[in-house]
Amino acid sequence: MKRFKKASDIKVGVIGYSGAFCMGRVHLEDMKAAGMTPTAVCEIDKKLLKVAGKEWSGIETYTSIARMLKKSDVDLLAVITPHNLHAKHVLQCLNAGKSVCCEKPLAITTEECDRMIAAAKKNRCLLTTYHNRHWDGCALTGMKQIKKGVIGDVFRIEAHMAGYSKPGNWWRSSKSISGGVLYDWGVHVLEYALQILALSNAKMTEVMGLAKTGFWAPKTKWKADTNEDEALAIVRFNTGQWLTLTMSSIDSNPKPSMLEITGTKGTYLMNHGDYEIIKPGKDGNKVTKGKNVQGDWGKFYKNVADHMVKKTPLIITPQWARRPIHILDLANRSAKLGRAIKTTYA
Ligand SMILES: NC(=O)c1ccc[n+]([C@@H]2O[C@H](COP(=O)([O-])OP(=O)(O)OC[C@H]3O[C@@H](n4cnc5c(N)ncnc54)[C@H](O)[C@@H]3O)[C@@H](O)[C@H]2O)c1
Repeated sequence: MKRFKKASDIKVGVIGYSGAFCMGRVHLEDMKAAGMTPTAVCEIDKKLLKVAGKEWSGIETYTSIARMLKKSDVDLLAVITPHNLHAKHVLQCLNAGKSVCCEKPLAITTEECDRMIAAAKKNRCLLTTYHNRHWDGCALTGMKQIKKGVIGDVFRIEAHMAGYSKPGNWWRSSKSISGGVLYDWGVHVLEYALQILALSNAKMTEVMGLAKTGFWAPKTKWKADTNEDEALAIVRFNTGQWLTLTMSSIDSNPKPSMLEITGTKGTYLMNHGDYEIIKPGKDGNKVTKGKNVQGDWGKFYKNVADHMVKKTPLIITPQWARRPIHILDLANRSAKLGRAIKTTYA
């Protein structure tokens, strides 16, 4: 992989400036804060491209990825397009010799991840995924407490996000574009859980998936292509631990916590603002509540820049980013097949 003398030598750009969450601006700001040099924006929506041009004076602007790859000497590109386009856009950039940071989820299928990993290797380019939430306050606080052994040995993690509402009329509600109900937020919460399970060197061995469809579909714009109403992934690990992920838009009694981590000495409830530790005591359960530390998303691009300059180990490797996708892909396939599927590692 090409190395750079200093972070400011790394010319960076984004593909997709993004209307929904202004993610193009977020990436360029984080890249700039890490010392790299914003150089190019590619966006097919001309109005958004104009906004980007105004916000980043002197930046190169393109409406075609192929043209940008031909004309620009940008070194690292963030791919911020809808999920079903990630593999196509990432492969296009890698095969043009550009390093890539792909937004989460890295892809929809394991096979796409494996093609991207092979292309990065072949073209000697960096490939990473924007797992900014690796540095969320809840993850930083939870990891610290669990490492200290506050709940003993973790044996079960249950991740859930649920509610009762019609999926919105946007691409996130389309299964063929988003990957399904498990993908958008599921990949973040799986990444939290996999960090915790990595503390015990757990390797996943098989995944089972279940899905309910057909309730919301007729009431949404996406109709037959609408995400599942609810889906569940169950992951078995070689250590005897297990992990479940439930995402639902048809649950009228959702679980209050995002992650429920159960250990031999107690349970840790992880939420965005705060946490609870529940431990059995002489007179019933003792509950300790606290606030999470401040998150630090800036660490993501700081690590990428340090890796490209000083060979600091990359934290979000493509092999790491493949793990949650592998779970989601196998859960999808298992739900159709009706049996658990063995995992593979890249
Ligand atoms: N990490 C996070 O915290 C976080 C937050 C929000 C979104 N995301 C991720 O960011 C990605 C984009 O989501 P979004 O909500 O910003 O979607 P969006 O639809 O608002 O933005 C996607 C942009 O890509 C552009 N685009 C599509 N095809 C293109 C092409 N061929 N060339 C150039 N531009 C093209 C679209 O015009 C659009 O502006 C998704 O992967 C999503 O999961 C991550």
